Amino acid sequence: MAPDSRRLALYPGSFDPFTYGHLDIVKSAVNLFDQLEITVAINSEKQGLLSVGERCEIIRETVADLPSVVVVPFEGLLVNHARRRGASALVRGLRQVSDFDYEFRMAFANRKLAPEIETVLLLTSEEHAFTSSSIVRDVLRWGGDISHFVPPTVARALEKHRSGK
Ligand code: PNS
Repeated sequence: MAPDSRRLALYPGSFDPFTYGHLDIVKSAVNLFDQLEITVAINSEKQGLLSVGERCEIIRETVADLPSVVVVPFEGLLVNHARRRGASALVRGLRQVSDFDYEFRMAFANRKLAPEIETVLLLTSEEHAFTSSSIVRDVLRWGGDISHFVPPTVARALEKHRSGK
């Protein structure tokens, strides 16, 4: 297949940190698109747990066995980045009904700005329906076992971060 006829989707998010729920979505999306870019948003207004560079590095290690996936940091308007990259779709994950409102608003805003780019909402597995980055940050903060919520690559990096190494 010619490179320019490949379908690229972006999976944007903060991923602070990347969880099993995110990994679920990546695994579903790689079966739907030729290429998937995990787009790690830089939010200069929000002090994250991990730097965007650290997040990208950890995610790259986590998805190293998925050759059609790349991990790219980005700052700005998502649809501008998507157009520059030639993406045809934006992928987002849905865990519960309560995610719907936010995702709908974002999808419609993005559609207004870039009608040619489709938002595709994918369901997380039931097992990870209650996993979120904020829960992981909280469990980590209070010394709990994060291995239920994040892949081993992420858990190792977070433990290192916690111990300041
Ligand atoms: O994982 P998150 O924090 O829910 O991801 C939100 C994200 C980064 C995808 C969203 O805030 C975003 O796209 N930010 C870039 C700015 C933008 O394009 N805003 C308009 C769409 S609402």
